[in-house]
Amino acid sequence: MIDLHCHILPNADDGSQSPAQSLRMARMAVRAGVTVMAATPHTNIPRIFENYASEELDARFDELRALLRQAGIPLDVRRGAEIFCDGDVADLLRRGAVSTLDGTRYPLVEFSFHDRPMRVLSVLQDLLDAGCCPVIAHPERYRFVQRDPDGLLPIFAEMGCVLQMNKGSPLGRFGPAVQRTALRMLDQGLVHIVASDAHSDLQRTPWLADCYDFLQEHYGSGCPHLLLERNPAHILNDEPVESVFDI
Ligand SMILES: [Fe+2]
Repeated sequence: MIDLHCHILPNADDGSQSPAQSLRMARMAVRAGVTVMAATPHTNIPRIFENYASEELDARFDELRALLRQAGIPLDVRRGAEIFCDGDVADLLRRGAVSTLDGTRYPLVEFSFHDRPMRVLSVLQDLLDAGCCPVIAHPERYRFVQRDPDGLLPIFAEMGCVLQMNKGSPLGRFGPAVQRTALRMLDQGLVHIVASDAHSDLQRTPWLADCYDFLQEHYGSGCPHLLLERNPAHILNDEPVESVFDI
């Protein structure tokens, strides 16, 4: 499997708090069947988690890769960021101040849970106009989506955005409102990739196997294969993603 949303970079945000914890998360991911992972620290949250591009940040990704190599953990970690949509994100991307997923046209973007749909749509359009293909982090967690999933999600998908569901959402780990929205997304085929959004090895972990099994049981084996393997691979290859309806 390929996990494109994980807070495994140590001491960068509210995810891994030490190199030792990153190693535990990496071992867990590999045991669950993950071979490639994007490290996506929170980015562009002013005065909290900024993580703008710098030589120091480059070095931290290199240190994480070296740490995994030394520990003999076969996990291919790629560069990424979970970019909070505050200010002019299209301009940040154009200037290279924030990273897409592994240098592709796909930035992973998140919104405030209480954002306004019209503002979200205008930010997404700016990103598309800048030549990016936004990957919307966990739409099922946003209040504005929960209030109107059937209205907003098809618009996001038709615009050309990628919908990334968290692995814990359909399993009920974020409560009933998130679970209901996640199941609705799956039923409607309005999800392109599933990722862990892991923050530690204890809660919100990188263990993707339980979600893989759940999707296989309820939606058939083509579903987890597409959402956890094929579409994430398309993104890393900078290719268009496929719809659940095509499988
Ligand atoms: Fe995240």
